[in-house]
Amino acid sequence: MSKNLQDKKVVTLAYGCQMSERDADTLTELSTQKGYVPADEMEKADLIIINTCCVRESAENKILGKIGELKKLKEKNPQLRIAVSGCMVQQPGALERLSKRAPHVDIWAGTHNIHEFHRLLDEAEQKGKVAEVWDKPKEVQEAVPLAKKGKLKAFVNISYGCDNFCTYCIVPHVRGRERSRKPEEIISEIKALVETGCREVTLLGQNVNSYGHDFDFEYDFADLLKEVDEIHGLYRVRFTTSHPKDLSDKLIETIASGTHLCEHIHLPIQAGSDEVLRRMNRKYTREYYLSRIKKIRELIPEASITTDIIVGFPGESEEDFQETLQVVEEVRYSQAFTFMYSKRSGTPAAKMEDQIPLDMKKHRLQRLISLQNDQSLAWRQKMIGHSMEVLVEGPSKSNPERLTGRTRGNELVVFPGDPSLVGTLVMVNIHDSNSWTLFGELV
Ligand code: 5AD
Ligand code: SF4
Repeated sequence: MSKNLQDKKVVTLAYGCQMSERDADTLTELSTQKGYVPADEMEKADLIIINTCCVRESAENKILGKIGELKKLKEKNPQLRIAVSGCMVQQPGALERLSKRAPHVDIWAGTHNIHEFHRLLDEAEQKGKVAEVWDKPKEVQEAVPLAKKGKLKAFVNISYGCDNFCTYCIVPHVRGRERSRKPEEIISEIKALVETGCREVTLLGQNVNSYGHDFDFEYDFADLLKEVDEIHGLYRVRFTTSHPKDLSDKLIETIASGTHLCEHIHLPIQAGSDEVLRRMNRKYTREYYLSRIKKIRELIPEASITTDIIVGFPGESEEDFQETLQVVEEVRYSQAFTFMYSKRSGTPAAKMEDQIPLDMKKHRLQRLISLQNDQSLAWRQKMIGHSMEVLVEGPSKSNPERLTGRTRGNELVVFPGDPSLVGTLVMVNIHDSNSWTLFGELV
């Protein structure tokens, strides 16, 4: 028996970075325009969308496992539609390989055509199956406005794609060249979000620091931040990711003098050895990176700095790795996202000699994580006895009796309080911490 359109449920899963999360929201939104209602339970879904990531093999394996699981659901309910989209599908040759492996998937889409998802849904209704992957984007894609959900925090794309070609990275191959959205489009998207109750935006770009490089007028990321800072009703502005080579003094000064611009900079170092950085094509040295950190600490002493680090890049010696550990000690990151190098076919590093054995990569990762855990703890313990501004997000996952929120530096805080405080800024006196969380009481 066919269901009413109103009864149809869509479940969307996003893997990978915030870009992927934002794309998944777009896909959900476009399916609601076709009558689907967002839901959580896969067993009850009429449409399941998986927005994929291919940045590391581990992500791909997880996603392949998930797609495999859906086969059973499809056997139980042949009316179920399954859509798989995003970075993994966009890789050269991937569509053929994936569709052979997962014939139960009805819709395949790449990264450049997700905004046409309602059309793909229609076509799947008519033809049964549809697969569409564009080689490149047609134009700078405008954001699909999201329904008025009253979300406290939102991601806003400011640019798409990447021009940096780090030798390990698949992203430029699946997301295309860098394209900046026009400032006025970004500003009006944020104003519309604020009207729905949004209080915090995170501006997203593969490299936000090179925002505007493709404009034929003078306008850069710092100019954009200044404008966003002035939007009435917005409490906080965040951004990610910053490439160290493009982090200008003007940008650091802008953050230092801003009102709602959060004192948090995510500045991936990737490796501490100049030789490894050169082979990664990162276009900076360890010394240059540290000089950027020094400038940040000079102008914004309380800034929280986070990073991404890859261990076991091809040819990384024990000495090279030691240099990474030294930088981690020197910088005092509040958090680090640490990864074992993963070979991505089609990237230059995949063909490099001296690939590092898995057990060595694992061992280095453990040593790095253990050092960073100490650093994260030391960073948070310094906050004990201080009052911090927290944007209250909701009940804590680990203890629903407590509230949770984040500081301007993006540290997670757990404290007792009334649920009516959700969505407001409060001051919390910190009295305890572990490596990941601060604990306190309302002031
Ligand atoms: N292997 C491991 N980590 C990677 N990253 C990107 N490509 C790879 C790869 N091939 C990491 C980088 C990047 C983060 C998003 O993912 O640290 O900053
Ligand atoms: Fe995001 Fe990179 Fe994964 Fe694409 S491959 S979803 S850009 S993390």
